[in-house]
Amino acid sequence: MFLNLSLNLNLSFLPPMEAPSKPGPMDPDLYFRGYHIAMTLNQSAKEEIKRRADIVELIGQHVQLRKAGRHFVGLCPFHAEKAPSFTVSPEKQMFHCFGCKKGGDIFAFWMEYHSSTFPEALRDLGERYNVEITDRPYSAEEKRRAEGREALFQVNELAAAYFKKALKDPVKGKPGKAYLEARGLSDRAIDEFALGYAPDEWDGLLGFLKGRRIKMEAAASAGLVIPKKSGGYYDRFRGRVIFPIHNLREQVVGFGGRVLGDALPKYLNSPESPVFRKGETLYGLHSSRKAIRTEGRAVVVEGYMDLLALNAHGVEGVVATLGTALTADHIRRLKGYAGEAVVVFDSDEAGKAAVLRSLPLFLNEGMTARAVALPEGQDPDDFVNRHGAEGFLERVRLASPMFDFYLEQKLTFDDADVEGKVRVLKEILPVLGRLTNTAQRSLYVRRLSERLHIGEASIWSELKKSTDRGGEASAPGRIKQRLDVARVEKTFHRELRLLNLIVHYPEALERLAGSNWEIFLSDADVLGIVKAFFRAFPGERPFSPERLMESLDSDSAREKFREALLLPPLDSENTVDLAITELEHKIRQIQLAASIKEAKARGDLEGLNQLLKKKAREINRPSS
Ligand code: UTP
Ligand code: MN
Repeated sequence: MFLNLSLNLNLSFLPPMEAPSKPGPMDPDLYFRGYHIAMTLNQSAKEEIKRRADIVELIGQHVQLRKAGRHFVGLCPFHAEKAPSFTVSPEKQMFHCFGCKKGGDIFAFWMEYHSSTFPEALRDLGERYNVEITDRPYSAEEKRRAEGREALFQVNELAAAYFKKALKDPVKGKPGKAYLEARGLSDRAIDEFALGYAPDEWDGLLGFLKGRRIKMEAAASAGLVIPKKSGGYYDRFRGRVIFPIHNLREQVVGFGGRVLGDALPKYLNSPESPVFRKGETLYGLHSSRKAIRTEGRAVVVEGYMDLLALNAHGVEGVVATLGTALTADHIRRLKGYAGEAVVVFDSDEAGKAAVLRSLPLFLNEGMTARAVALPEGQDPDDFVNRHGAEGFLERVRLASPMFDFYLEQKLTFDDADVEGKVRVLKEILPVLGRLTNTAQRSLYVRRLSERLHIGEASIWSELKKSTDRGGEASAPGRIKQRLDVARVEKTFHRELRLLNLIVHYPEALERLAGSNWEIFLSDADVLGIVKAFFRAFPGERPFSPERLMESLDSDSAREKFREALLLPPLDSENTVDLAITELEHKIRQIQLAASIKEAKARGDLEGLNQLLKKKAREINRPSS
């Protein structure tokens, strides 16, 4: 409750992000000099990387960021959102999402975005920024995970090299080469996508991997070989052309293999593994993302061959799903590179159904989407081979907004009779309810009214009913919610204020050290933060927020502190003294109220009398 609310509250009552940047305690230089006293070898590598890297540049490669005052903001790649709450601070070299609360430094981003471990992040970023990594003792768990993933990458890399070489082999590779040629793929495409061939043998790859001392358990968990009942292993991919699948770090995470004839299954894909999650992986994204960014849109197709055919014709900025439905994670990735997706799925029932299912996802993620309907029975591969790049791009240009596509599809099939109309309405209304753009919503209501021959007013009233039902609470529930909000808002205000002072005016806050400030706070995380602060301060100068962050022992406390770090000061140099006087006053008031309650409970009339007098004096103080 607290966490969710804090988002709304922060944004509603705080000044806009561009508060004056103030030299002093939060001077970035001081901030960084305050880092870690005891540095182990790798800590210094980590520090060195952080010194060389720019978090805005690094994150900006995967998330579209725009400047907003002192910060950069964008759509969070880690949760569904339509308005940016993902914030990157160049000054503090950290990011934080005010929506899902994920945040931290470049290492935290790298690990989260690439689903990788700390050792991997250290190595990747070390390479990227030219910092040598000396070994540091990782935790047993970190080490085990990193080694497991490393083994998968290694065996995939070797297998990719094997398949590639086999395709080039004039004898063994012949059937594969002939197949790809027949499908219009040149040597250039073969090289660009590192295509390969798995000869029709039971132990081709097996022998190759054994010769390189690869553990067969790793090859088996990568899905490259399969254990035999009688012991030993055999090749999984046989007699298939091979499409290696890369992640954004250009590592091979898995393979797709297509039979040369009509045997089934037509495509065989690597199984999911710790390095390969189909719902997060888009084929071709690592090579298309530049073009996607320049063009401002991504073309999404279903198959490997669709993407390769389009690419062969010079259509860039294409990605393919891997035989799975398009997921929210896919869309989150894409919207980091472009504002719009054009979905071109096969023109069969399955393809159309998949497009229809993706509409709510695009709406949820706030990504503009359009859909291309190809002639019956054709897929993008067929189409571009018949009509060329120009023909295809023309279709892309003329693509209807996904909502229109949705309506058209639903109505042609279902609007025959009254029951049909009701069915369509029932399906469409919740989707319509999710549109944040009200102009767009009115437009669609009108269109729906025209198509279904139902009055607009009736549709509006149905829409209202459906969103009410979808909304959380009944009337009493809503009132309770509002009261909760008010209560939380009040205490939240105090806690936020204190955190804000710690971050921006640590010296001034020293005045509170002797007072009974604990009574003022109800949130355990904030209590922990303030305690840590008074423990370290004033002994520690300059005050290091980074070190305080590291001394916190819960993620939620770190989240709150990170937010405090990113929010602008609520006070200026001139008002900070007054703010602290007010805090002292509040603390005394709360304390008094507590003592009065206690005295009443004890029946201590004399004490009560004293306290009430004190209270009267307190109220008449000039500062309140
Ligand atoms: P399609 O059946 O539409 O294949 O599957 P396609 O791209 O037109 O293939 P060609 O042109 O016949 O070679 C689309 C995607 O679905 C997955 C694959 O990722 C494929 O690219 N798929 C399909 C499988 O994973 N397994 C299958 O058996 C079939
Ligand atoms: Mn096809």
